[in-house]
Amino acid sequence: MNISRETIEQVQQAVDIVEVVGDFVSLKKKGHYMMACCPFHNEKSPSFSVTPSKGIYHCFGCGKSGDSIQFIMDHETFTFSEAIVFLASKYNIPVIELGRKEEDVQQDTERESILIALQYANDHYVKNLWESDEGQSIGLSYFRERGFIDPIIKKFNLGYSLDAWEGLLSKAVADQFKPEIMQKAGLALARENANDSTARENANDSTKIKLYDRFRGRVMFPIHSVAGKVIGFGARMLTKEKNQPKYLNSPEGEVYHKSKVLYGLFHAKTAIRKLDECFLVEGYTDVVSLHQGGIEHVVASSGTALTEDQIKLIRRYTPNITLLYDGDNAGMKAALRGVDLILKEEMNVSVVVLPDQEDPDSFVRKLGGEGMMEFIKQNKKDFITFKAGLLSEEAGRDPYKKAAVIKDIVESITQIKDGIKRAVFFRECSRVLDVDEQVLISEYNKLVYNGRHNGKGQQPPSSETLEEALVEQQTENPEDSLDHVSLLVKREEESAITLLLNHFDELVDEKLSAGSYILQELEEITFQTPVYHSMFTEMAQRLSKGEAVGSLHFIKHPDTEIRKEAIRLLSSPHAVSANWEKFHIIVPTNIDLLPTLTQRSVLRTKRVAVLRMMHEIMDKIKVEKDDQVIMDLQLQIREVKKVSDQINGLLGIVVG
Ligand code: UTP
Ligand code: MN
Repeated sequence: MNISRETIEQVQQAVDIVEVVGDFVSLKKKGHYMMACCPFHNEKSPSFSVTPSKGIYHCFGCGKSGDSIQFIMDHETFTFSEAIVFLASKYNIPVIELGRKEEDVQQDTERESILIALQYANDHYVKNLWESDEGQSIGLSYFRERGFIDPIIKKFNLGYSLDAWEGLLSKAVADQFKPEIMQKAGLALARENANDSTARENANDSTKIKLYDRFRGRVMFPIHSVAGKVIGFGARMLTKEKNQPKYLNSPEGEVYHKSKVLYGLFHAKTAIRKLDECFLVEGYTDVVSLHQGGIEHVVASSGTALTEDQIKLIRRYTPNITLLYDGDNAGMKAALRGVDLILKEEMNVSVVVLPDQEDPDSFVRKLGGEGMMEFIKQNKKDFITFKAGLLSEEAGRDPYKKAAVIKDIVESITQIKDGIKRAVFFRECSRVLDVDEQVLISEYNKLVYNGRHNGKGQQPPSSETLEEALVEQQTENPEDSLDHVSLLVKREEESAITLLLNHFDELVDEKLSAGSYILQELEEITFQTPVYHSMFTEMAQRLSKGEAVGSLHFIKHPDTEIRKEAIRLLSSPHAVSANWEKFHIIVPTNIDLLPTLTQRSVLRTKRVAVLRMMHEIMDKIKVEKDDQVIMDLQLQIREVKKVSDQINGLLGIVVG
């Protein structure tokens, strides 16, 4: 839907974050902001904050944040337009739609018709199952024999297609459905011998095309969209005919796109959000059986490798995916291949391998829901560790095979953008693979370097091969690695930007604002974290043009990443964010502290920048062959070291 700018602006002006959020959670006033238990994840003590003056919400537990419109989009899983329409009706604002092309309208009505036909078909299949003799004796008894109880069969709207050529079609046509729509919905097929003369004569007359039912004599699993509309079917055969697929699925069409659908998501989404985790299985029956066992946060990929679209779908509800697979199965291998895709979306992937010959469906029937959950808890491994173990076992002690495994694993690790998480994986994998952490990190650096200089034919900074390194296993202290320093840098940058956002205009002495002071002092330093770099340079530009550098500008920033980060840093100016607590960084609770804190933040940011510089020079020295150049570099180090000593002196850090 294409909504006019005017409507969007009216909605943006009318919305009140407390009213909007208050419709869904109960907010309690706490100082300048309101708190509640987060509606996006399961928690007992409130960490979800709403800042009325800024019109934003932020959860310290799960990190969800945004304005009123974002809240509705997240909470109701609406698109932007849908959220606008929703809020417009709440505030009695008329929605003005922009004109649409004729063909758009046409396509919409066709889509609508297909959806209606699919719902009609589902009703028909359900009715067959419960009311017809054939449905009861074949379909219903099959489900019951499998152990599905009636309420679960009903919950998933399972059905049965009669073993007839026009079981559905004849009814649908009598009820005025156009055969053409039945065909487009994937419910009917044209007869193979349609090229005989009568068919050709009638080719333009759609009502005369000879069609027959696609699904016959099968139990039917309707596939729902996220919003709960029937968009397709998976149909399981009940006979043992060899030349037929076990499951016949709806074909790709206007409303059904296999790669964008996850079976069970509609029924699972509330549980996924609550438990902040999504189980991924292969089959329709796995989803149904797990529900019956009380495990509802589960979706199925329907036997294919996971696609990027499917991952993004899960990402809307949780970043935590757990794959449930049987050990020796092909789906596992496919999942292994798909994992880099998941990691790239910054999701946390775990794996549970089920015993041989068991799939989640059979296993939950054996153990019951609670037993299954216990098994999962005991056997869950993070994906990278799992993959490392699996591959390492295969490679044995062969250094060449092992090198290949390491490359493979490090490749997966490069997909992870979060430096802290990466550091954890280096440590884990070094243990599992029994190689020095530093070997992994330098392999990582090579990969990243090659990635950046792709195609330019440059050599990585280290000429050492991985195989050699494995033999030597250097014992460098990882705490001193460039990777670790990068973490320090990121942390200090975050702290400086937070101060800027919160206290820009407050004075640190008679005339100087905290903002101007920090900007001046750090002018020479290039922020390494892209989002902080953008924010910092933008602040400097705005200040030089005399524009306001208040937090308001960043909360409404057109760039999503900047906006999100600003909201995250701003949401509770006087609380200690989870990260900071971990790093023991004290945040101003008393405004008199501001001058000191600003000064220290500036010094610390400089300190880590200098540290980074030293490491870069040291890395250069390691690979440099030319003695003269090495001496120059050593001289540089000495200079940098002097600066570093000065800063440390000012900060009162004694370095041995
Ligand atoms: P499985 O063969 O594991 O089936 O395929 P299942 O779900 O365990 O079914 P039961 O227990 O034998 O009844 C896993 C999934 O792969 C897809 C389906 O989505 C199925 O649920 N599949 C399988 C097909 O699409 N076509 C097939 O022919 C087989
Ligand atoms: Mn099965």
